[in-house]
Amino acid sequence: MSKESFGAAPDGTPVYLYTLKNSHGMEAKIITFGGIVVSLKVPDRNGKLDDVVLGFDSPGEYVKNHSYFGALIGRYGNRIAKGKFTLDGKEYVLATNDGPNHLHGGTFGFDQRVWEADEAESVPGRSLVLKYVSKDGEEGYPGTLSVTVRYSVTDSNELEIEYGAVTDKPTVVNLTQHSYFNLAGQGSGDILSHQLTIVADRFTPIDSTLIPTGELRPVDGTPMDFRTPTPIGARINQNDQQLIYGKGYDHNWVLTRKDNGLGLVATLYEPTTGRVMDVLTTEPGLQFYSGNFLNGTAVGKGGKVYNYRNGLCLETQHFPDSPNKPQFPSTVLRPGERYETMTVYHFLTR
Ligand code: GLA
Repeated sequence: MSKESFGAAPDGTPVYLYTLKNSHGMEAKIITFGGIVVSLKVPDRNGKLDDVVLGFDSPGEYVKNHSYFGALIGRYGNRIAKGKFTLDGKEYVLATNDGPNHLHGGTFGFDQRVWEADEAESVPGRSLVLKYVSKDGEEGYPGTLSVTVRYSVTDSNELEIEYGAVTDKPTVVNLTQHSYFNLAGQGSGDILSHQLTIVADRFTPIDSTLIPTGELRPVDGTPMDFRTPTPIGARINQNDQQLIYGKGYDHNWVLTRKDNGLGLVATLYEPTTGRVMDVLTTEPGLQFYSGNFLNGTAVGKGGKVYNYRNGLCLETQHFPDSPNKPQFPSTVLRPGERYETMTVYHFLTR
């Protein structure tokens, strides 16, 4: 495996960087701290490679600029209301790290843990297997959760992510990936002229603390309608209650799926470079977050400043607050079951 040192985690644990490549020059650099994709180079329509994810040069900067840049998210992607849920009649109390709510696994989520690279199960230069064992009670969650994530770069210019987990007690789990994309190249300005398509007829409206109300609302006639390619900036500043609550787009879409297999759920297109990113997943939901909390305080790779809406996340997931919403697809994992999901970011040009 091509492996380099990438400094150390705040507790002094050494962090390593692995490089995955394909025969067309696509290249992903991933570190063992948070399973973070620190760089992702893909060609534009002229074959020019650019790094299309926001990021930093050391683990310390990922901690300082704590907005989950490029990281694996767990145990629970997005919010759980009031940091509480009841499972099999017992109430569990989680860390509240986002106003009244629990966000992205808590104060010390998977994004800040050092993962173990399993070199025996990895394929040198092509795939990297990362493992993390989350202890019973970590951040308030029940059960020891053993998590495996395989990142692969394929010859079709795909970054493939396979997530697996098992538990020794009933628990909830919802893993995702939090890369901030800018298909014009990281640090090249805002993402408002990227065109987005989301294969979804409905979304889950939120309250003022960004918790879903429980309703599945049709996108028809709303600024949430991305059923045909639409520039992200076209409606983002409309006087719409959902956009006001989200400070822009920060919502979960209910993906239109024929089955539970891997399906195309979103396409992102950047007109100046011709880069296209298709998102395929086995998950029922997609959080589209338009980088509304980026405010120029984060200085990233190559001295690039990350301002308001300079990157966007397309986080494949189960719906936020599912542990408190019995009508949403279940996120419960029981001993003997295996959590298995897959997401693919496929890069093309047009
Ligand atoms: C998610 C959330 C956002 C925000 C970012 C991280 O995408 O939905 O509200 O917390 O993570 O800054």
